[in-house]
Amino acid sequence: MQTRLDKFISESMAVSRADAKKLISKSAVTVNGQAVKKSDIKIDTETDEVKVNGKALTHEQFVYIMLNKPEGVVSASADKNDVTVIDLVKDEFPRRNLFPAGRLDKTSTGFVLITDDGQFAHDILSPKHHVPKTYIVTVDSPVTDEVVQAFKDGVTLADGQLMKSATIIPYDDGYTAKIILHQGVYHQIKRMLGVFDIGVNTLHRTTIGYLDMPDDLQPGEYIKLTPEQLSEITKDMFTEN
Ligand code: URA
Repeated sequence: MQTRLDKFISESMAVSRADAKKLISKSAVTVNGQAVKKSDIKIDTETDEVKVNGKALTHEQFVYIMLNKPEGVVSASADKNDVTVIDLVKDEFPRRNLFPAGRLDKTSTGFVLITDDGQFAHDILSPKHHVPKTYIVTVDSPVTDEVVQAFKDGVTLADGQLMKSATIIPYDDGYTAKIILHQGVYHQIKRMLGVFDIGVNTLHRTTIGYLDMPDDLQPGEYIKLTPEQLSEITKDMFTEN
């Protein structure tokens, strides 16, 4: 990919464009071993080697972050009243236009994917691509066999919307269940269980695609995803299921 040198430095080093320009004018920057003074030259991010003070930069076009969303934090980019998922990660990525790819309710916890890659977000959220999402819920009345079957057949919400086939696996205590969805409708789990007068006490997302959130990632903590981890999210995305 071709990009301007100052933009490349700003994104790779998480510094402002003005600071990137200063580095260039102070002769701190070389491209393929040659000192450069002009900020607007175009470089190829795949083949050109850019060094700042002798240290080679690696450029990432986009970032992908797994956050364990704590309760009370909203899945938005900005909010007047509440802390957002972006507030929790933005200090480390000051030059990125980050947003959450998919939402969890304010009261829900667990895996939220944050990125600046709009196409990727669109792809994993599109109902056409069926990327599964797995949740653990605790509920206020037992999940019966009737509910299990209805999830499989497709639940019709109170407003008449028919949900795609989903999986609910009750645990032995009857009040905890694993749920796997292939679409993302607002308050989907609460509304699906609400049809059976089952209230949700807690809702925690553990998995997107086939990528599990590590058990030791504490609420509020986040990690940057590797290409291998990303491929666990997109696995099977383009196959019919
Ligand atoms: N379904 C819900 O009802 N809430 C969530 O946060 C996610 C899925």
